[in-house]
Amino acid sequence: MRVKLKLFRDGSFTLKEFEVETDESPTVLEVLQKVKEIDPSLSFRAMCRASICGTCAVKVNGQHRLACNTRVSGDEVLIEPVDGSKPIRDLVVSHEEIFEAMRRNKVWFVPRDENLTLEPSQLAKTSKAWDCILCGICNNVCPPLIEGKDFGGPAITTKIYSIEEDPRDSLGEERLGDILNLNLQNCVHCSNCNLFCPKGCMPERWITLLEGKLAQRGYIQKKTEDFGFLGF
Ligand code: SF4
Ligand code: SF4
Ligand code: FES
Repeated sequence: MRVKLKLFRDGSFTLKEFEVETDESPTVLEVLQKVKEIDPSLSFRAMCRASICGTCAVKVNGQHRLACNTRVSGDEVLIEPVDGSKPIRDLVVSHEEIFEAMRRNKVWFVPRDENLTLEPSQLAKTSKAWDCILCGICNNVCPPLIEGKDFGGPAITTKIYSIEEDPRDSLGEERLGDILNLNLQNCVHCSNCNLFCPKGCMPERWITLLEGKLAQRGYIQKKTEDFGFLGF
């Protein structure tokens, strides 16, 4: 298989090509590991090989994917760093913006003192959002972020929703006042994030629900027709 790699080195991008022997329909990660046997200087991230750690996002033939759960077929593949994140080296990009936004918005669980028994229906409300592995792909395909708009983005919003809606979190709705800096109203509801999320987390749905809650409480102005379907 011919492997074309767009790599960031010494401040600019270069295209490198390799020929590798692979099994039929290898994963992108297996292809990269084959290339690394030829060129040990190649840098890419992959910590789990099981769609859990969220570190291996790349562009495969122009589409944002996890390298470990994407298979390639045919004679040729193009692998590039993701869009919209600061490149560090080769295929490795910075995730620091997401982590900084998490620190700024206290995106961690603050448990209640008492024990709660949760009904499956309560857990089901947030289970999709809890599946987020912070791979950043939703941010990489988000038009307002790519255009540089002041918007927190779908990745962190998904994390915030999973905690804010969980009755075991002691801060609960108090968190709403703290997330105004995310400017959720800058989401254009294009659903790119829903389409490309490798874990099916549906980020746009949680943005819409949080936006609705903020509008309902008067924190942001939103046209009522945007939220009519929520029944507020
Ligand atoms: S919502 Fe999906 S695409 Fe976005 S960071 Fe989480 S797992 Fe990745
Ligand atoms: S739906 Fe909103 S958050 Fe998702 S990609 Fe589009 S603009 Fe970004
Ligand atoms: S290597 Fe962990 S998600 Fe791909």
